[in-house]
Amino acid sequence: MHFVLAFIVNSLFARVSHAAERPFDEGGYPLSFSFKSPMDTLAGLTDWASSINHVYLITTIITVLVFFAVSIPLIYAIVKFRVKEEDLENLKPPKQVHGNVMLEFAWTIIPVILLFFIAIPTWEGIFDRPDKAPDNAFVVEVVGHQWWWEFKYPDLGITTANELHLPENTPIFFKLTSADVIHSFWIPKFGGKVDVLPGKDAVNTMFFTTPPLENPQNEGGEYYQGQCVELCGLSHALMRFEAVLHSQDGFDRWAKSFHQAPVVASELESKGEMLFAQCQVCHTISGTPSEEMEKQMLAMDPPSPKQGPNLTNFGNRRTIGAGTRKNTYENFASWLKDPQAMKPGATMTAFSHFSDQDMAAIAAYLRYSTAKTY
Ligand code: CUA
Repeated sequence: MHFVLAFIVNSLFARVSHAAERPFDEGGYPLSFSFKSPMDTLAGLTDWASSINHVYLITTIITVLVFFAVSIPLIYAIVKFRVKEEDLENLKPPKQVHGNVMLEFAWTIIPVILLFFIAIPTWEGIFDRPDKAPDNAFVVEVVGHQWWWEFKYPDLGITTANELHLPENTPIFFKLTSADVIHSFWIPKFGGKVDVLPGKDAVNTMFFTTPPLENPQNEGGEYYQGQCVELCGLSHALMRFEAVLHSQDGFDRWAKSFHQAPVVASELESKGEMLFAQCQVCHTISGTPSEEMEKQMLAMDPPSPKQGPNLTNFGNRRTIGAGTRKNTYENFASWLKDPQAMKPGATMTAFSHFSDQDMAAIAAYLRYSTAKTY
């Protein structure tokens, strides 16, 4: 049953994701039921995803049983009791069963029992999730923005964007908030969706234990697709992100590299570093004056957080524009020249006045100086 369902759902999703523009997927994903679709909801890689799939499976079995329990007698009755040609002359109404207490009792009580079979594992699944961070959990704060994702690691002093780095086999407790409108946070292979609400007291939570790496050799991490799933404005469909799973060592190296300042290795990059001064009202890079500026802005009363994503490890990111384009020079330059063309409604300033040299310089600084080895 599960298999048939997985086939149907995955085929549909695979078709959708092939139809959509996915320029950062070099190879694309095969049309198959082999759990290879990036938005596969049945992969069930975490404890939380498995508990959801468990309820899903029970519901599917019950609904399929109900389907056969209704349709088989129905078809039997249609065939068996159809009017025959010779009876057409003197048709009589069939024997009436109105007021049959046993029958009415049965079709009331059976659905109630069936619903209990669905409700109990559902409640179990819900109450199994803690609403406060367990002691052994690693806390990640998620902030939804129109139209990108901010990820904060309070224990590590890290704020990053659009790439959610996580260690494998680790219980993760997410605190979810929004800077503007309602968004919804979803990593299909890791479990369900949780709404992300504006307002400082509206903190929703999510908890699961990350799966092990599929291949322990994957030094650079393994990527899982994420997507905003609450219609949140013009570029809702372009509010994506990637979860990057590391070994514990790999994660520690990533976290350590995050605090290193950019390494400016050429004249072009140095020119780009100067040009970045125009960006630092909205963007921060650790180890540069933009970091000090952010501290001052946050110390103001009321605090004034920067409007754009933190770009500290921009050179390491696979995508730009929150998971919408591959991080190539061409995409970078067209994003800077005309962000609206790539992401309608984005608040990013257009740098259409940049000359080709300026563009090459800022690209060199952001794409190379900020790239770390980890
Ligand atoms: Cu944010 Cu849709």
